[in-house]
Amino acid sequence: MTSGGDLNRWVQDALSDISKTANLEELKIVRIAHAGDKSPVALASRSLGGLPNDERANMGKLIGTARAQISDSLEKQRVILEAERDARLLREEVVDVTLPSARGHQGGLHPISILKNEISDYFIAQGYGVAEGPELEAEWLNFDALNMPEDHPARSMQDTFFVEPLAARLVLRTHTSPVQIRTMLENDPPIYVICPGRTFRADELDATHTPVFHQVEGLVVDRGITMAHLKGTLDLFAREMFGSEALTRLRPSFFPFTEPSAEVDVFFNGRWIEWGGCGMVNPRVLVACGVDVNEFSGFAFGMGLERTLMVRHGISDMHDIVEGDIRFSRAFGVGI
Ligand code: PHE
Repeated sequence: MTSGGDLNRWVQDALSDISKTANLEELKIVRIAHAGDKSPVALASRSLGGLPNDERANMGKLIGTARAQISDSLEKQRVILEAERDARLLREEVVDVTLPSARGHQGGLHPISILKNEISDYFIAQGYGVAEGPELEAEWLNFDALNMPEDHPARSMQDTFFVEPLAARLVLRTHTSPVQIRTMLENDPPIYVICPGRTFRADELDATHTPVFHQVEGLVVDRGITMAHLKGTLDLFAREMFGSEALTRLRPSFFPFTEPSAEVDVFFNGRWIEWGGCGMVNPRVLVACGVDVNEFSGFAFGMGLERTLMVRHGISDMHDIVEGDIRFSRAFGVGI
């Protein structure tokens, strides 16, 4: 038999347990214990049926009051704990966008890419555009259009990566000069462009060669362009690359797509070093690209980025450039 004293104690126990709950999970457990199906008050109200009528009404009222006190208290505590939880979540999930982030290693540009950007910026500042062409190039653009006849030694298998099926007549471009042709076919003069890019030749990797390397090509086609413009452009470019003391010298040479042609040497650290090739664009090439040679003439030059980097920084082994060891890049101030 339930007595008023029992009810009182159950309510006191419940209120005390409820007041001690620190979070909603604990409150859930306390709710089951004091207001759930098997709680003392629930069991008491279920046994009301066995009481005589007069006692049942009275006891029913007392039990109802007790249950109301317990559920009131549960409800108040729920409101408090929910508010606390919400405040805590706001605190914990706040994002301070001013805090320094924990940065992982994000990588950095390879010194060749840095050099490529440096050269591009230098020429862009003078009004040049930067042209790009595909690395997998039509044999016709890589050779024929550059006035390189079928029997030219550069076309033999030992220098060029031909790509199957051979009937497609595609090669991995052996130089950036096909971009000259693409540029002249697509644009009318005046043309001032450079083309930095990756090039390929069937060489073994050793201290001075790599089968995958980079060149930067320069092409100018305009009215009254002479070799003096070429020399001046190379002199300034050399100073940009090697410092204000750098000089260039042209040595007569031969390229099928330039006439006359020359090798460019740069005077750096007390000696002449071979830097690249250059010349006046061969009129045959200009004509093939639809340029009116009575009105326009042009010059072109091309040099290796690896070579430029090696000369400028005294790098004696090509392996250092191609192997991707980050200690090499770090020496160029690359943060990795
Ligand atoms: N394409 C030539 C080479 O790879 C270099 C060059 C470019 C020469 C432009 C003349 C003019 O050897």
